Amino acid sequence: MTTTVALKDVTKVFPDGTVAVDNVSFDVAAGEFMVLLGPSGCGKSTVLRMIAGLEDASDGIILLNGEAANDLPPRERGVAMVFQDFALYPHMTVADNIGFPLRLSGVDPGVRSEQVAQIASALGIGDVLGRKPSQLSGGQRQRVAMGRAIVRRPGLFLMDEPLSNLDSGLRAELRAEIAGLVRELGVTCVYVTHDQAEALTMADRVAIMRRGVLQDVGTPTQVYGRPATLYVAAFLGSPRMNLLEASVYVSLDRHVALHFGDQSLYLPWNDVRARHVAHFHGERIIVGIRAEALIPVVSSAEGDVIHGRVRYLEHHGHETLAFLDIGATAVVVDEMATQPASGSGAPNGLRRLVSRFAGRAVGGPGTDDVASHGRAHQNGSAESRFTPSDGGRHHRRPAELVVRLAPYPALTQGTPLAVRVRMEALHFFDERGKRIDVGMH
Ligand SMILES: Nc1ncnc2c1ncn2[C@@H]1O[C@H](COP(=O)(O)OP(=O)(O)O)[C@@H](O)[C@H]1O
Ligand SMILES: [Mg+2]
Repeated sequence: MTTTVALKDVTKVFPDGTVAVDNVSFDVAAGEFMVLLGPSGCGKSTVLRMIAGLEDASDGIILLNGEAANDLPPRERGVAMVFQDFALYPHMTVADNIGFPLRLSGVDPGVRSEQVAQIASALGIGDVLGRKPSQLSGGQRQRVAMGRAIVRRPGLFLMDEPLSNLDSGLRAELRAEIAGLVRELGVTCVYVTHDQAEALTMADRVAIMRRGVLQDVGTPTQVYGRPATLYVAAFLGSPRMNLLEASVYVSLDRHVALHFGDQSLYLPWNDVRARHVAHFHGERIIVGIRAEALIPVVSSAEGDVIHGRVRYLEHHGHETLAFLDIGATAVVVDEMATQPASGSGAPNGLRRLVSRFAGRAVGGPGTDDVASHGRAHQNGSAESRFTPSDGGRHHRRPAELVVRLAPYPALTQGTPLAVRVRMEALHFFDERGKRIDVGMH
């Protein structure tokens, strides 16, 4: 039988005072593949361990199949867990490793080997049943760990970054396999990862966490297409969403103007979002534009075009990303790196680029983002931090607008480039990082 899961206002405070999980609520339907996504340290494993019963909730209720399970011992929860550091028994063969849980529960050897063979073949490791773990590749070892979890036919799979120790090619292959297998079995799954691509490709729904707080829950299409917060917008997608600071000016007889430095975009009144954005007349908001919403055009003066100059190009083979200077201010959300950025607030990628293109040493603690770009900026400074409602932070720096181009374009540094903005694809957030058009559609 497959299990439903529900968390109601669940909080976990560790004895040292760390609030690892802060008032989190979400449901997982029977047979659903739910992915918990967020950077390292945001509380994902703690949520999973509370569902498994390995950790007590400090507050709130955990329901399994609709019944409070807070006091249920782990072995009575019908869950199987797969960890990042999947520990196989080194002295046992693959067959014995997979069959071990069955042996523990006294399943007859004949039945056991039949079930083991069936699962091993479903996992594509039927031909290595006689080998020891040391004779397997990383991917095969992970399949064995999966097999051992599956063999008991649990009602609920809990997987904690099961692929993060594998190299990227294998990860991509296994994520499709795992998602396919779990769906075939029809078992409910809560899968933890810090990798947004993994989340978007595998999940039926994604729950995104930051600092113990749940930010957004929805299908990949929903959270990617209509992120509830600035943080979710910044976390999902590659390349990252352009997040630009804009001043709003309402012109009642014409449009709502969004000023970025000395450039502007105009939201016509027949766009239903214009009224929501108009509330911010005279204030600054954050406008999100994904690279795919920017289309290079021959220079024009419409209200939906941004002009820039190529600062640098990044070739990815199948496409080239152009980063444009547009004289605007970007908003950078902290904690976007997998490992918490040390020292200065500059993301690792930025520091790498600064050092590559400016020919400078990588900035250490205290490096000023703006100064390390080699120019002053009129609107913002790296120190102008503000605190959004979820306790995280974002800061400002000169914008580098990322645009997708066909591979290896004939452009060089400094080339002017104009892009048309698909206005309907803009995202709007207030300065605290909350989506402005919430409650619409
Ligand atoms: N046993 C513990 N005692 C104190 N703090 C802990 C303990 N386990 C985890 N934490 C802290 O709780 C937070 C969430 O941890 P965790 O759930 O492991 O995050 P994630 O799995 O998202 O990386 C982190 O700040 C971590 O340091
Ligand atoms: Mg973890």
